[in-house]
Amino acid sequence: MTRTRVDFSAAVENEMEMTLPALSVNEGMARAAVAAFCAQLNPTAVELADLKCAVSEAVTNCIVHAYRESAGDIRLNVKLCEGRLVQVEIRDRGCGIPDVRQAREPLFTTDAQGERSGMGFTVMESFCDSVKVHSRVGKGTTVTLLKRLHR
Ligand SMILES: Nc1ncnc2c1ncn2[C@@H]1O[C@H](COP(=O)(O)OP(=O)(O)OP(=O)(O)O)[C@@H](O)[C@H]1O
Ligand SMILES: [Mg+2]
Repeated sequence: MTRTRVDFSAAVENEMEMTLPALSVNEGMARAAVAAFCAQLNPTAVELADLKCAVSEAVTNCIVHAYRESAGDIRLNVKLCEGRLVQVEIRDRGCGIPDVRQAREPLFTTDAQGERSGMGFTVMESFCDSVKVHSRVGKGTTVTLLKRLHR
């Protein structure tokens, strides 16, 4: 698969940040907020749908895995950079991921109930140009999604 080259030094032209409690009712809100903010770049319907889907997977992971039964916040940061590059950072201060490489493998899940398919990270990767995961056990996880929109 051909990937767009991502320039991490791209200048930030606009930025949005929001913090939401990690509740499943807020998953739709997070997804819609990111889409509404990115609308100023006139993305295609497909680009917007891809971005929403990736954000949804990352946010759902914070709700389902990071905090489990306890309460916590999800911090979303969206940067619109020169060259139509969108960066979305999704951060939690939950349990963290002991082995990120393993977690990113298709079909890997720690869900014992059989409700999860272990495809969240794979979905994020397929809809974005780059997915970075930084995690520390007991401290939390930051997922950074990068997507370049077409001209
Ligand atoms: N924010 C997070 N905090 C703690 N653990 C996480 C977080 N995100 C992912 N994980 C761990 O990584 C595993 C893989 O995540 P992934 O999203 O790929 O699959 P899943 O959530 O288990 O299933 P699916 O997304 O298909 O419903 C999870 O099962 C979980 O153990
Ligand atoms: Mg998931």
